[in-house]
Amino acid sequence: MEAKGSDVAIATACANIALVKYWGKREGKLNLPAAGSVSLTLDALRTWTSVSLSPEHRQDVMTIDDQAVSEAVLARTSRFVDLIRDLAGSKTRVSIRSKSNFPTAAGLASSASGFAALAVAVSDAFGLSLDGQALSILARRGSGSAARSIFGGFVRMHAGERADGTDAFATPIPGLSIPMAAVVAPAAKAGPKAIGSTEGMEQTRMTSPYYDAWIAQVDIDIEESLSSLEARDWDRIAQVVEGSCLAMHANAMAARPGIVYFQGSTLLAMNVVRSLRHAGVPVCFTVDAGPHLVAFTEPDYQDRVANALSQVPGVGDVIKSSSGEGAHLVGRMP
Ligand code: DP6
Repeated sequence: MEAKGSDVAIATACANIALVKYWGKREGKLNLPAAGSVSLTLDALRTWTSVSLSPEHRQDVMTIDDQAVSEAVLARTSRFVDLIRDLAGSKTRVSIRSKSNFPTAAGLASSASGFAALAVAVSDAFGLSLDGQALSILARRGSGSAARSIFGGFVRMHAGERADGTDAFATPIPGLSIPMAAVVAPAAKAGPKAIGSTEGMEQTRMTSPYYDAWIAQVDIDIEESLSSLEARDWDRIAQVVEGSCLAMHANAMAARPGIVYFQGSTLLAMNVVRSLRHAGVPVCFTVDAGPHLVAFTEPDYQDRVANALSQVPGVGDVIKSSSGEGAHLVGRMP
């Protein structure tokens, strides 16, 4: 059957940063997380992806920020597009153009916005109309964190139990009224590339003596994050968010060989966040699989947090973000 999609489908998605971290899979092929997670979608870190059907091509083609992608990235992307081609009963190749407004190589959650935008654009190009749950399941196959970027605001990822992954998707968290903003404090020199999150979490699962304890803690942390956000209690929010981040990294550091994502600037920035908090500012930090720190705070304090973090030695240009919207179709590329 030939696909009957629109000529060009264009989607945008924002990155998200986890408050309660995902670090470990229960199954690799369907990319099923071993535990849930909680995130905030970030308006300032955004990807746009345009997809057109190319019946004349024998291979998919893809550019990111106007550069042809590597064979490895193309192969991973084509495998992902195959999932949607299978759903649509099509073999048609696609041309993909993707752009982000933040450096995709810097380890700033680009796979989350990238696969979320791709899921929305490719499914529309093939004429499929999928709901949020189906899109989240699809995006998860590209990258676990991408399942969360389908939705805006605070989002919860469900680990699920089924072997086929039909219950492993994200859902928006309704009714959390706490005003939330973020400040991204990137390490100016990202340094030698540390191990990526997929490999890093697998190495941790296989070799860290702390892994089981880490997984056992996640559900407790999810409940505590939701109730402390609900109560707008920053001492409790900070304890659970920083606790989840530090436990994830402690777990990775305890792998053999140990995985260290922090740099000097990461630790200096953590201390600055804690000093601000001790001075009464509602703020806490988290760090993904890289050296960049993200501070969560309330919008009224965002400038103060950004100013303090921009003065940390080794921190590059800080990015201020508000809560972002879910992935959706748009009319044109920026
Ligand atoms: C540290 O979603 O990149 O950012 O599913 O293997 O693609 P894969 O992993 P990925 O892992 C994200 C890890 C993290 C924590 C988080 O976002 O929850």
